[in-house]
Parts: sequence; C-alpha cells; structure tokens
Amino acid sequence: MKFNELAKQRCSIRSYSNRMVSKKMINEVLDAGRLAPTACNIQPFQFVVVKEPENLAALAGSYPADWFAEAPVVIAICTTPRKAWVRKKHDDKNYADVDGAIAADHMTLAAAELGLGTCWIGAFNPKIVRNVLKLPRNVEPLVMLTLGHPNEKGRPKDRKSRDELVCYETWTNKA
Ligand SMILES: Cc1cc2nc3c(=O)[nH]c(=O)nc-3n(C[C@H](O)[C@H](O)[C@H](O)COP(=O)(O)O)c2cc1C
Repeated sequence: MKFNELAKQRCSIRSYSNRMVSKKMINEVLDAGRLAPTACNIQPFQFVVVKEPENLAALAGSYPADWFAEAPVVIAICTTPRKAWVRKKHDDKNYADVDGAIAADHMTLAAAELGLGTCWIGAFNPKIVRNVLKLPRNVEPLVMLTLGHPNEKGRPKDRKSRDELVCYETWTNKA
C-alpha cells in the first residue's frame, strides 16, 4: 500500500473482536517500532507486550474504558529518559518522548497495514501502569497501544487543512 494511503487508512480503533492476534503479526508490529529512528540511535525504550488476561485486567485499572479492557493485546512503550539523547549544548531538551512516539507511530502504521486496529492511550494512570508492569523507577510508561482485530471502522479523519498547518520560510508567512 502507498504510504499516504496507509496513513489515511490508519485510524484509532476502540472496539476489538475477541480473536487473538498471532505472534507473527505482533512481532511484525514490534519490529516496525524497533526499526524507528531515534536521536543518536540510542533506542532508549522497551516495549512491554501484555496478552495474559489477568495482566490485561490489572492494566485496565489504569484506564477505565470498556473497550480498553477488551483489547486482546496492549503494547506499552516505556522509555528510559536518562539514557536518551539530550540537547546539552543548548537547552537540555530530553528526546526520550520523541523517540518513543516515533516508535509507537511506526507500530500503529504497521498494524494498519496488517489489517489490525490500534489506539494510542496517553490518559492512563501511570502509577497503576508502573505497578502492573513492574517498571523500574527510572523507566517511564510513555504510551500504551491497544492492538487487535477491529470490530469497527473507526471515525472519518478530521484534520486541519494544509493552509492552517503550514507556513513558508517564517512563522507568519502563509503564501
Ligand atoms: C499521544 C496520544 C495520546 C492519545 N491518548 C488517547 C487516549 O488516552 N484515549 C483515546 O481514546 N485516544 C487517545 N489518543 C487517540 C487520539 O484521540 C486520536 O489519534 C485522534 O483523535 C485522531 O484520530 P485517529 O487516530 O482516528 O486519526 C491519543 C493519541 C495520541 C497521539
């Protein structure tokens, strides 16, 4: 599939069938995350795959939506900010979140290409996620992705126009 077709097709899926996702498909999705670019190629993240029903149930306590609890797989993208590249020369900006987000986005697109549905979850309770996944103190749960065979089409794309988003050469120049 052409890339922009895939980007158009991917949308957040918030209803899943109870069909399990094969290990092969999960590995393809994980590999897309693994292949993502990171600042200085540090790859300051780990992906925690949760499939066991009791662990999914415990994780559901971090984000109380029925559809989240029904997803057959959750992948938690967890970063280690102290390992990530920092823009030390200028302003100490830490790029862990950027690196983790690119990996997550690669995964959602790879999943869409396989006909699978995903949804980014950022509004979770990090304390609960930390406890359930037994994360070390220096590791941060950045985002969770639900993954499964979709049971809905998803909403049509609602995006700002190119004119609203783009300027040329300087911030105020729309021409
Ligand atoms: C960083 C991030 C966090 C998000 N967190 C949530 C969330 O907690 N719950 C949810 O239902 N959707 C969440 N979403 C999904 C967005 O609502 C969704 O991507 C957006 O509305 C655009 O819709 P689309 O994904 O169908 O194109 C999140 C998306 C991103 C990128």
